[in-house]
Amino acid sequence: MDKIFKNSKLVPYYYLGRGAFANLGMLLNAKRKTQGDFVVVVIDHYFSGKHILPEGSIHADDLVIYADTSEEPKTTYIDALTDQVKTKNRMPVAIVGIGGGSTLDVAKAISVMLTNPGKAEQYQGWDLVKHAPVYKIGVPTIAGTGAEFTRTAVLTGKDKKLGINSDYSVFDQVILDADLLETVPKEQFIYTAMDCFVHNCESLLGRINDTMTIALAEKSTQMMKEIFLGEMDLEKLLVASSLGGLAVANSSVGICHPLSYGLSIELGLHHGFAICVAFNQLEEYYPEVATFKKILEKYEIHLPKVVSDDIAEEQLERMAVATMLNEKPLSNAFGDDWENIFTKEKIKSLLRKM
Ligand SMILES: [Fe+2]
Repeated sequence: MDKIFKNSKLVPYYYLGRGAFANLGMLLNAKRKTQGDFVVVVIDHYFSGKHILPEGSIHADDLVIYADTSEEPKTTYIDALTDQVKTKNRMPVAIVGIGGGSTLDVAKAISVMLTNPGKAEQYQGWDLVKHAPVYKIGVPTIAGTGAEFTRTAVLTGKDKKLGINSDYSVFDQVILDADLLETVPKEQFIYTAMDCFVHNCESLLGRINDTMTIALAEKSTQMMKEIFLGEMDLEKLLVASSLGGLAVANSSVGICHPLSYGLSIELGLHHGFAICVAFNQLEEYYPEVATFKKILEKYEIHLPKVVSDDIAEEQLERMAVATMLNEKPLSNAFGDDWENIFTKEKIKSLLRKM
């Protein structure tokens, strides 16, 4: 297979450490130049009424949006939130995303849509964004999605789940504070962390990678094994997730993500959970599935079967088609002639097992 070169955009600034979130106000104040300058904070609705924002970081004129993450963000939701921000009749000086992958993706997408015309669905794909976005800060409150470091904002449209993949989706600043991870429920915690584990496997076994990607993904995998098969360490997990995010931002996902998108779009499954259900059936492609199963066993996570045995052929067809829309990850995994190797029939047979 031919080698593909990629010009990698990285997050330029990050804070790391317990208590680092306290720097938010200082970062925002550096952006506020005049009286009318305001900030948009997109925060997971889980934190509604919990007062986690650092003292003094938010001003009276700022717009705080509690993002509904009960389902994966839809393009129509992004359009509605963008319109809400536009009612201020001026651009915010910063957008802050505080939450899991969905919330971070919502913040990324709004920052892009405020400066680009049309609807969010027009930008699902690769490098379709033309105008520089609003400055944005990402603060993950769960580790594993890598959303804090990637160049994608994954959105669900009418019939596709596909990211706004663009250098303009990359955060300008990230804050990694393990104190924010303390309250995540066990299942969600594991599913999301395994998303990172899967990113690493997909990066390492794809053709779009280089020495940097391999180093990042290998180290991230090693740290994940130490954390999940040895002793839990939340700060180390944040770093493993970041390295995994950097690795995948520098390469591409592979077989598992497209299948999980097929599951998510038809069955409304959350990303981390769909990833776990899909990865659990991919032993023939990824040897690390064995490690993954050991981790699930240790944490007493029992994955249910989500695709019913008597699933309608039309629904299975739609899942397979949604999977096959992800040409880039699939060609990363199989090469340009991926369709001849990873056929629709093969995809359906894997989906039936999930
Ligand atoms: Fe993922």
